[in-house]
Amino acid sequence: MTGQPPLIVGNWKMNGTVESAVSLARKISIEALDVFADLVLCPPYLFLPFVETVLKGSPVRLGAQNCHGQEKGAFTGEVSPMMLKDVGCSCVILGHSERRQFFHETGRGVQKKAVLALKYALTPIICLGESFEDYDQGRTRNVLKQQIETSFPEVWEGEEIILAYEPIWAIGTGKTPTPEEVQDVHHFLKGSLRELYGEKGEDVPLLYGGSVKAENASTFLNLEDVDGVLVGGASLDAKSFLDIARSAS
Ligand code: PGA
Repeated sequence: MTGQPPLIVGNWKMNGTVESAVSLARKISIEALDVFADLVLCPPYLFLPFVETVLKGSPVRLGAQNCHGQEKGAFTGEVSPMMLKDVGCSCVILGHSERRQFFHETGRGVQKKAVLALKYALTPIICLGESFEDYDQGRTRNVLKQQIETSFPEVWEGEEIILAYEPIWAIGTGKTPTPEEVQDVHHFLKGSLRELYGEKGEDVPLLYGGSVKAENASTFLNLEDVDGVLVGGASLDAKSFLDIARSAS
């Protein structure tokens, strides 16, 4: 952390109702000015316009959990970056491990989405992470390097783009890497982004995600190369999400 407010992103995944989403967003937006953190809420697609109405005028940003890699057309059931922009999103999570695992998303597919998201002035939050087997066998760096090379845009003009490191084995399991391991991986990611984009690659904010809770958030947020956190389960409760945001200050 550099003295900048950390970025705290809530990924609500496939949870809630319109009513619960609006209530959660309202509670968070009311307190948002009192925390030293930039907040982003990523509800399911259907709830975006409702949550947008609540967040209007507050500093909390709206994000989506995915998008399609084409602008428009015959892609039944899909949502394009242009549509997300139209309903007030400023960011979009891309390549979450659940999308890679259950929906067979590839690095190149994520890259295509990221390029299109940037075209519509949406900030891509590109997720990377290794499986437990890769972690156990010491392959984390190789896996992440390959994911960066395939998932990040080849050409980058310096628009806002965010990397979220989420070890797959830490998501929703209550297990996390040690703070030393997270710092080590983030340092490596910084170096890999520098190799990809030159010196400005070091400016890409790096989030840690995977079983972040109010109890452990400050351990990660205090690390030198951690600029924020991506929170799943604990973002579904206003108090725990706000406690995570407060733990940074
Ligand atoms: P978790 O999920 O906080 O519930 O582990 C994180 C994520 O999937 O982004």
